[in-house]
Amino acid sequence: MADITIDELANFCKRKGFVYPSGELYGGLAGFWDFGPMGSELKNNIKSSWWKFHVHCRDDVVGIDGSIVTSPKVWEASGHVANFVDVAVVCKKCGSKFKIDEHELGKVRCEKCKGELESKGKFNPMFTTQVGPIEDDSVTSYLRPETAQLIFADFKLVQENARLKLPFGIAQVGKAFRNEIAPRNFVFRSREFEQMEIEYFIDPSKNKECPFEIEDMEILIYSSKMQDENSEPMRMSIEKALEEKIIQLPWHAYWLSSGLKWFFELGANPENFRIRQHVKDEKSHYATDTWDIEYKFPFGWKELQGIADRGIFDLTQHEKFSKSDLKIMDDVAGKKLLPMVVAEPSLGVERAFLVFMLDAYSVGEKGNVVLKLNPKLAPIKVAVFPLVKKDEKLVEQAREICRNLREEWNVVYDESGSVGRRYARNDEVGTPFCITVDGDSGKKKDVTIRNRDDGEQRRVKIKDLKDVLRGLISGEVLFSSLQ
Ligand code: GAP
Repeated sequence: MADITIDELANFCKRKGFVYPSGELYGGLAGFWDFGPMGSELKNNIKSSWWKFHVHCRDDVVGIDGSIVTSPKVWEASGHVANFVDVAVVCKKCGSKFKIDEHELGKVRCEKCKGELESKGKFNPMFTTQVGPIEDDSVTSYLRPETAQLIFADFKLVQENARLKLPFGIAQVGKAFRNEIAPRNFVFRSREFEQMEIEYFIDPSKNKECPFEIEDMEILIYSSKMQDENSEPMRMSIEKALEEKIIQLPWHAYWLSSGLKWFFELGANPENFRIRQHVKDEKSHYATDTWDIEYKFPFGWKELQGIADRGIFDLTQHEKFSKSDLKIMDDVAGKKLLPMVVAEPSLGVERAFLVFMLDAYSVGEKGNVVLKLNPKLAPIKVAVFPLVKKDEKLVEQAREICRNLREEWNVVYDESGSVGRRYARNDEVGTPFCITVDGDSGKKKDVTIRNRDDGEQRRVKIKDLKDVLRGLISGEVLFSSLQ
């Protein structure tokens, strides 16, 4: 990660079309952001890579797309109406506003100046909305504060439709809303954001047996015991942490390693990651054990992804409130049972976005920004240039190549300014490959392809371009191995 503050990143994102303050024309609205041409592509690529990794590449996970507003009963059953509470506090010294958990009241001091905090009372961060235009029959409901509850409410239908057998997971990607008291740190804490969540269901009697392999990786580990004893996090393999009972549940070890693997395969820097167990008072109202994947943001170590053990809390609550039977037949146990959620990997899309941007951001020798995003995530995969824009033949040939590549990828055509300027413009937004059509291209039927990360160039036959690019973008072919 380059040495960049979160405000510098926010400025860069605005300048290059990644993220803008929403409604800035009218002064903006705190905690709301719009994703521009580059940002919306990157965000979509993050979501589709996550979906591919956690849903399409597995036999045991299917996805849903639930609604943002649903019956308010869902939120009564889930405990969010009664228990999803934060305490608003204001620093008596510097006036900063924060939210803290109830148990922190009287214990913590101001994050900024260590001043004493004054409570402004409890509040529920769910946004309410009126459903139905005529007051007499309208219902007060909520914008969902997490995507997870729709998975529980639809649980029985999804299990039947997809003929799922335990253990299995149900995934969802979508918007969530929280009326945060202090949205801050760019898109890190927003009022409207997206989550990528999985609820992973098992037979409760099998919570000590995880059939999946735990990735072989070392990571900084910070258990609740280490935090209680004020000791430092330890670097060790996740498997060893499980053997030594630092991580108690094999399922947690597995989902932590799988969450990290997804990040590392897409180019995130392992040095900036750690896993941290929630201390006793920190857990959500539904969780029995929770581990977070944390990232070293420019403003400190913060939660990136939560992995909670929600047990049978949610399905039991929905059984009670809906007076329905949510038990399912488990052939292995030979009986009907209510599954437990042994792990709920829950990741904010915007936080993943920040991680990939921060780890990709680098400054070249001439002070130019090179965004070294993994090609799979890059908003634009290829830029195609004619060497000179006045040569009609080169222009036509470049446009033809562009049309052809667009069948598979997001490709731009660029003819303005020097080729050096065009390279620099594309480096800044992370375009991994630039193709230049020059005077030899017509005769030799080849083009120059240039690699963003080292500026290396190779000649490639036009007929082979798609195959070469497929290899390069998927990471199966290294640029240095091209002839
Ligand atoms: N279903 C579990 C759940 O919602 P959470 O820890 O409250 O758990 C999960 O949220 C993830 O959602 C967090 O780890 C974070 O990545 C993201 N998230 C939560 N609140 C957010 C906010 N205000 N802005 C951006 N992302 C947020």
